[in-house]
Amino acid sequence: MKKIRCLITAGATREHFDPVRFISNPSTGKMGWHIAKASQENGWQTTLVMGASPLPEIDGVETIKVVSAQDMLEACQSKFPDCDILIMSAAVSDVRPKKKATNKVKKDAIDLHPELERTPDILLTLSKEKKNQILIGFAAETNDVIAYAKDKLERKNLNAIVANDVSAQNIGFASDMNKIDIVCADGSIFSPELDTKENLARTIIKFVEKLLQK
Ligand code: CTP
Repeated sequence: MKKIRCLITAGATREHFDPVRFISNPSTGKMGWHIAKASQENGWQTTLVMGASPLPEIDGVETIKVVSAQDMLEACQSKFPDCDILIMSAAVSDVRPKKKATNKVKKDAIDLHPELERTPDILLTLSKEKKNQILIGFAAETNDVIAYAKDKLERKNLNAIVANDVSAQNIGFASDMNKIDIVCADGSIFSPELDTKENLARTIIKFVEKLLQK
């Protein structure tokens, strides 16, 4: 039987002004890293597209390291057509500088009002290229978590979205613990208890496995 192929993104993208300065966010990639591990342990052929993260490569998982949102988009587009599942847990920077200097810009020459532009929305782009793949998004919110998650689920044509409240202390970015709600396209919401990211990653993989069987 053919192995299920699962593409996962994790970590933060970095949008550079010059080689030593960038726009990014506090994600360490822990949640996505554990999802990749759980996917591999579940017997799935796993590819992890990894932005900035201090975490090591996982044995048996194909890892593609990327820097910017554009790099992540291109890496995902090269793998997506051959995948059964995409789990988009990366924290993609929403904006980037319009201009990037090749060499370090000296302090006195720094543009104090740099022009920014939006990065490509990777999930939205891939949702338009979707054939039979299952698409799982993440929604990191500080307020109205479920309402915003539902909005993203619909806008990005997802099968489900993992919502988490990043304003709560001791969970979310860089923490080992997380509290998530999985909102499905059929309107149902699955809310596992507060748990380690490692256990929640297994829960997410089991959940996706059930979606595959539907
Ligand atoms: N995402 C993406 N490309 C982007 C931004 C986000 O693929 N440029 C993905 C994220 O990986 C996540 C989902 O879209 O799976 C939602 O990301 P989030 O940052 O919560 O929402 P945004 O769509 O960026 O909207 P907003 O910042 O307004 O909440």
